Amino acid sequence: RRRVRIHHLREYKRRGEAWPMLTSYDTYTARIFDQAGIPVLLVGDSAANNVYGYESSLPITVEEMLPLVRAVARSVEYSLVVADLPFGSYQASPEEALHTATRFMKDGAHAVKLEGGARYAAHVEALVSAGIPVMGHIGFTPQSEHGLGGYRVQARGEQARELLDDARALQEAGAFAVVLEMVSASAAKRVTEELSIPTVGIGAGPDCDGQVLVWTDMAGLDTGHTARFVKRYAEVGETLSRAASSFAEDVRDGKFPAPEHSFE
Ligand code: KIV
Ligand code: NA
Repeated sequence: RRRVRIHHLREYKRRGEAWPMLTSYDTYTARIFDQAGIPVLLVGDSAANNVYGYESSLPITVEEMLPLVRAVARSVEYSLVVADLPFGSYQASPEEALHTATRFMKDGAHAVKLEGGARYAAHVEALVSAGIPVMGHIGFTPQSEHGLGGYRVQARGEQARELLDDARALQEAGAFAVVLEMVSASAAKRVTEELSIPTVGIGAGPDCDGQVLVWTDMAGLDTGHTARFVKRYAEVGETLSRAASSFAEDVRDGKFPAPEHSFE
């Protein structure tokens, strides 16, 4: 299997083939998803919640992201690895974005992702000029949660025009794909039709070129509330919880280790 490259994603779009993307933050999931044929793995800043236990993506730093990127990058043969630039590591200037993105690429990422539309066109251009593929991310952008006034669906009604303008600006700046998060399905459909680069939806309806989910959401790691746009394909949290309880019970009952687990 040859590694997925950014031009393959454009080919999928031309052929009208929908493609999946998942987050990954460690070697086991990276190997499993790579083997499962997931073409794009995102080392998302959602690692803030899913690895480090923060309540939002805002606190995570470049220093906390880089080891996860290294782990995922060295665990894949097939998947294209995209690294999220964390909040506060790129917004100030195209130069800052280039400095940060370069660190991610040196640690094994194949591309980076940053949040924001037309206002970040110059940042995207600077990276693309340096040979760094960039994935955009517009609609609901979690790093701007407080500016956007909480988790709210974007690009409804009048706002749909703005989403399209942002998407076009990213395409013109050289982005190879753009994530559309929590936007009306009709706006996402329109953007997908208008762009030559692929769109990747999360809470953006069925008409995007690709679909992305956070792996811990799609595999049911936590037992709490799941967002409307998530589909749970497994209950890994329950499975692990049962395994831990069974192990504990066996130890307490003297059933583990049995003779077959012991050495003479
Ligand atoms: O960090 C993340 O998991 C993401 C995806 C939801 C696109 O940015
Ligand atoms: Na993210």
